[in-house]
Amino acid sequence: MTDLGALAGKRILLVISGGIAAYKCLELIRRLKERGAAVRCILTRGGAQFVTPLAVSALSEEKVYQELWSLTDEAEMGHIRLSREADLVVVAPASADLLARMAAGMADDLASTTLLATDKPVMVAPAMNVMMWQHPATQANMATLRSRGVRQIGPNSGDMACGEVGSGRMSEPHEILAAIAGFFAEASGPRPLAGRRALVTSGPTHEPIDPVRYIANRSSGKQGHAIAAALSALGAEVTLVSGPTAEPDPAGCRVVRVETAREMLAACEAALPSDMAVCAAAVADWRVDVAAGQKLKKEGAGPPALHLAENPDILAALARRDAGRPALVVGFAAETESVVEHARAKLARKGCDWIVANDVSAGTGTFGGESNAVHLIRRDGAPESWPRMGKDEVARRLAQEIAAALGGAAAR
Ligand code: C5P
Repeated sequence: MTDLGALAGKRILLVISGGIAAYKCLELIRRLKERGAAVRCILTRGGAQFVTPLAVSALSEEKVYQELWSLTDEAEMGHIRLSREADLVVVAPASADLLARMAAGMADDLASTTLLATDKPVMVAPAMNVMMWQHPATQANMATLRSRGVRQIGPNSGDMACGEVGSGRMSEPHEILAAIAGFFAEASGPRPLAGRRALVTSGPTHEPIDPVRYIANRSSGKQGHAIAAALSALGAEVTLVSGPTAEPDPAGCRVVRVETAREMLAACEAALPSDMAVCAAAVADWRVDVAAGQKLKKEGAGPPALHLAENPDILAALARRDAGRPALVVGFAAETESVVEHARAKLARKGCDWIVANDVSAGTGTFGGESNAVHLIRRDGAPESWPRMGKDEVARRLAQEIAAALGGAAAR
């Protein structure tokens, strides 16, 4: 549960763009004010079609800013000041159009100009029709914004005002409120990993058979991405090397996308030196020795024989480096029986310092699910069994354990 007390005294600049979800921002303003935050609002022309400046002004107890070329607005509060006199800029609802203009760096109205001029963190709550949200243009714009550090909350799935069902519904006011409070709690929290570098692997790998087929596995990347985010939240400078996943890039991390195990190893080695390495990726054990240059055809004498070759073990390669070994190397072990014993043996075999072991036997719901029940096994020490908890919480606890273990100087 996020501590909403983190909102007291914080200054939020809320940009309300056009969309039926704009009505929800009135509730958001009220809740922010209740918790002692100061809220100043920019209402776009589209936003003003859905909520009135009077309602926004009455709830925020502030003047509402609407026009870029307004002499009175600029005289009272120029758009530069507006963008700087806030602790956080929240765009809710964030329309497809405003996201596109933000991604393109446009500055043709007060909202886009302010967003371009700001030096403050920005959080967006997308709200639009499901097809608009899923359109590759919107997804590419959102990916661009995330890569620049913009935080994303939602959208949710469900019934939409347009009558369709799917993803694109703006997060509820209480969810946005919690995300804003979480941001401030994180920003003011301890940063014990400041100045340290972290390398995290996540997701599956894809090993090509021919130009259209590949060997893969069911890893979602949820746990690895959550660990990258949690280490970053504690101040680490994180490089996340990820196989193909549908997970959004965690804010604040450098993300290197790869397909194969060999690419993953190369990207990890390029990211060294690092103080810590957490290998959460489900790397394919084997690849097709020589992938076909052309699509394999069905005609011929039966199915092709796939000759497999062993992939490099990235965890073992990092853990067994002579020079530049990260001070703490953490591996994962997915087991279906004798979880702790097998994980101990794996720790010794790979040469890592800790293993996070989880039971992925049928019915546990760990694969692709939101929760995980893990055991933390250190090279020297009794295994710790953690109760089942969300993957985000596993990540936070693991990051705290790592921070507690890493004393001494950073790798630079
Ligand atoms: O041997 P196994 O795949 O069960 O080991 C799991 C651990 O090893 C995980 O931390 C995984 O990220 C890592 N691993 C790796 N490279 C491989 C195979 C596994 O980094 N080729």
